[in-house]
Amino acid sequence: MAKYTPAVDMGLDRLSEMARGNFDLAWMDSNPQGWGHESKPGPAGLGLVQIETGHYAKIPETGSSHGSMAPRGCFVPEDTPSLGIYDMNDKGEVWSDNAAKLYDEAVTRQWNSATDVPWHKLEKLPDEIEKAVCQMCTGLTEVEFVAGDMPAKWMCHINHDFHEIKLFLATQIMDEARHMDVFRKRALANGGGLLMASPSQEELLAAILQAPNYTTASALMHIFGEGFVLTLFRTGEFLAPTEVEKTIFRLCMQDEARHVAYGVKHLKYFLERYPERVEEIHSILDAGEQAIFALTLEPQTIEPRAILAGNGMENIQEGMMKLAFLYNKQVKEYLHRLKVAGIEREPRMRIPKELPIGELAA
Ligand SMILES: [Fe+2]
Ligand SMILES: [Fe+2]
Repeated sequence: MAKYTPAVDMGLDRLSEMARGNFDLAWMDSNPQGWGHESKPGPAGLGLVQIETGHYAKIPETGSSHGSMAPRGCFVPEDTPSLGIYDMNDKGEVWSDNAAKLYDEAVTRQWNSATDVPWHKLEKLPDEIEKAVCQMCTGLTEVEFVAGDMPAKWMCHINHDFHEIKLFLATQIMDEARHMDVFRKRALANGGGLLMASPSQEELLAAILQAPNYTTASALMHIFGEGFVLTLFRTGEFLAPTEVEKTIFRLCMQDEARHVAYGVKHLKYFLERYPERVEEIHSILDAGEQAIFALTLEPQTIEPRAILAGNGMENIQEGMMKLAFLYNKQVKEYLHRLKVAGIEREPRMRIPKELPIGELAA
């Protein structure tokens, strides 16, 4: 029986050649087109935006056919094995022109939930307010990490030539980990705890995770779901009784703005290439709108927010009016984002544009 496997024997043969002074050195001149590249840091440091220029900025419409993790722009030897997992090879399926810039922003704006939130400023709140904060945080903890699991589900399919997208999605996963943990921490930090989960929210999460392809999942999550959350964080200061919640909202808002920005630009890019596929987007939004409407009016979602918006049970009706304002804004911004991406959704929308709360109370 041979002492070593053929792979080890080949390594030993190479070693004996090198011992005799015979080196290969073919790698040194393997990539003349990619040699001589220089990059200088920009105002915010050396970002992807600065390095992906010239030869290295040539992003193929169809990702490399070798199917390996060989970095874009290097020389790939013919015997490089395919990994057999990258089946999203069409640039139109994933691309967004702002991904490199968003990645650069994400890596320099990371924050942490341990020390960037002024936890020492937590104070004892009236029972109903603490319960309302804790219920709101239960709902946000439940929903946040779908925006981690969804990119994770698709990332190992995306051709390695589109690394800007993969890097951006990796930052999103970290962002969402932080969001999930910061809301959980808030619920557990001030004498309260987690309260009730949300079956309606699970329906929306299922629609995102089970979407038939990446772009429909992205439209539903990045533009619709995260868009609603972005408007909530941006407008919802009245839902934050102390500086702690205000800080959390502000920090999460920065992150969500990047996620939504990617989604809008990706959908635009996709529809410019595949305008006939707009119906796929409409039909996933049909489902998403139903789910979000049910969820918005579910007691465990709307009641705690109304208590916080009214600053107490006695003003819960006033709080409802503020929430109606928030909902109207969420829908308006959602329609606007879709318009920027190239979709006229308003005539097709299957939920009310405004919450008719005043009329119903009359
Ligand atoms: Fe988030
Ligand atoms: Fe997000």
